[in-house]
Amino acid sequence: MTQTTLTLNDGMQIPQLGFGTWQTPEEKAAAAVAAALAAGYRLIDTASAYGNETGVGEGIRRSGVPREKIFVTTKLWNSDQGFDETLRACEESLQRLRLDAVDLYLIHWPMPRMERYLDSWRALIALKNEGRVRSIGVSNFQISHLQHLLDETGVVPSVNQIELHPFFQQRELRAFHAKHGIATESWSPLGQGAALRNDRVLRIAQKHQKTSAQVVLRWHIDNGLITIPKSVTPARINENSRVFDFSLDAEDIALLDVLDSPKGRIGPDPDTADF
Ligand SMILES: NC(=O)c1ccc[n+]([C@@H]2O[C@H](COP(=O)([O-])OP(=O)(O)OC[C@H]3O[C@@H](n4cnc5c(N)ncnc54)[C@H](OP(=O)(O)O)[C@@H]3O)[C@@H](O)[C@H]2O)c1
Repeated sequence: MTQTTLTLNDGMQIPQLGFGTWQTPEEKAAAAVAAALAAGYRLIDTASAYGNETGVGEGIRRSGVPREKIFVTTKLWNSDQGFDETLRACEESLQRLRLDAVDLYLIHWPMPRMERYLDSWRALIALKNEGRVRSIGVSNFQISHLQHLLDETGVVPSVNQIELHPFFQQRELRAFHAKHGIATESWSPLGQGAALRNDRVLRIAQKHQKTSAQVVLRWHIDNGLITIPKSVTPARINENSRVFDFSLDAEDIALLDVLDSPKGRIGPDPDTADF
């Protein structure tokens, strides 16, 4: 597969197609990650909260793909927020992954009621300066949380990883990202499978002789997003990687654009999330 990449606001390159590992158990993570790397994915997304960083690191080594060719993301969990706690949690993630550095470290959720994401962000800035992480970003941040980081530190996250699929397109947040040079990364890009059964998606898939998953992933790529579909099924891992040999036309995009709905969110609202 010929991967497309984006340049982040710190000059680093990130592949547009990545591989998600949420709900992939530790014992299946190494095989899934090795299969993904064999299929050509070069971005792997994990998190300390997924409980599979050890398996993810094992899969990277088992694949035989050189470390410098792989973009590895992990995330800081909510209970580890705070300056010192973040530094410690990052070291623990690196130990589990058995890596010297990750390519992207994200604050997993803002948890505004905890009032610790600013201290956590300052720790991420320190980690980047020390070279333990190459790029820094956030996940599930709303405009108000991003604005607070910008006002207090002047350091703009490279990435915001947010729930984004045809049923929940996050246009206002994406416009804010575009204005400030923040790359948008879509989590649950297939709507956890729901988008694959939609009539319009199925019709477009038939037209292009592609599967509905390939159509939805192509929609993310054509929109300039980074997308990280998850699967533990080898055939689907391969299927989801074959999205670089076609593109959607204006009619397809118009059909998918109207699926957007304020009620389309699957996951928690970041302002009120309580874990
Ligand atoms: N930052 C955050 O807060 C956050 C939150 C959620 C997710 N994420 C990240 O985003 C990644 C993706 O999101 P997600 O796992 O929630 O959902 P997703 O990628 O939208 O959907 C995954 C589901 O779709 C199925 N699937 C995958 N490819 C398919 C295909 N070609 N045909 C039919 N079914 C297919 C998978 O099944 P099988 O695995 O059984 O094949 C799985 O049940 C996560 O793994 C994680 O890395 C981040």
